[in-house]
Amino acid sequence: MSDLVVLGGTSGGHIAVMLAHLLGAELGEVEVSKFPDGETYVRVLADVEGRRVVYVNSLQRGPNETLVETLLTLDALRDLGAREVHAVVPYMAYARQDERFKPGEAVSIRTVARLFRALDLDSIYTVDMHLHRITDPTELFGAEFHNLTGVRELARYVRERHGPLGNAVVIGPDEEAEQWARIMAEELGGLEYAVLEKRRVSASEVLVEARGVDVEGRLALIVDDIISTGGTIAEAVKALRSLGARDVIVACVHPLLVGRAYTRLLRLGLKDLVGTDTVLSPISRVPIAPAIAEALRRDLGL
Ligand code: R5P
Repeated sequence: MSDLVVLGGTSGGHIAVMLAHLLGAELGEVEVSKFPDGETYVRVLADVEGRRVVYVNSLQRGPNETLVETLLTLDALRDLGAREVHAVVPYMAYARQDERFKPGEAVSIRTVARLFRALDLDSIYTVDMHLHRITDPTELFGAEFHNLTGVRELARYVRERHGPLGNAVVIGPDEEAEQWARIMAEELGGLEYAVLEKRRVSASEVLVEARGVDVEGRLALIVDDIISTGGTIAEAVKALRSLGARDVIVACVHPLLVGRAYTRLLRLGLKDLVGTDTVLSPISRVPIAPAIAEALRRDLGL
């Protein structure tokens, strides 16, 4: 029996399967259902006593539901005698409410971080967490917090699928996306990159301008962390096309695609639209498990 067991929650099972395979670990089972009154029921079916456990769940497809499921499972793992408990939360919900934008608002990510911290986990891994105003997430989540990136996996996909991109420009749709545009540009052999200017009007409406970006007759490769309503991407594509972009590819780490976002994006006539599988959607074609496996191998000495 392997010392390491990988378990997946209701929004992480697909990642857990690949992760267990990549790490040569046992894939365990967790039963999750509902009590008649709507409370979440969790039962760990794997034998975890004395073993190292990696539990994977994204806080998506009902962030409140998956948050409670994740907290209950992680706490149960400790309680059941797991020697080490490592949480992998590829998509960390509530990260965008990282500040009190209006008086009286809850700063949700701080509360979520406190809940995770209270579980005394050996480590927490997430992927491209929305850290726009948080400079040091370990202050919130504790020292063993690791923020991985899915952009290298996206770059590998773009390289394999589209080959050399010539004089393409990598575009971050707002200032914060510069970090992802830079990695993508480097991974694709040193492409040029630029960021657009975005102003948020409401939770579903943004204005994007592409001042001084040279995309005329060129392929634009937009990279962002999250696609939620699709508003940011739709506006960015409009701005790039108005400057003469020849083709547009969109790659994102967390394709939440809420409501009618997918249809909205399909209507843009993009050359390609792709996301990782940190969350499941019609465009989640790039597995995130290899990036997580690499980090776990390094940190756990596997
Ligand atoms: C914002 O800061 C993020 O990086 C994304 O650009 C944003 O969450 C996308 O949201 P939407 O698709 O609703 O425009």
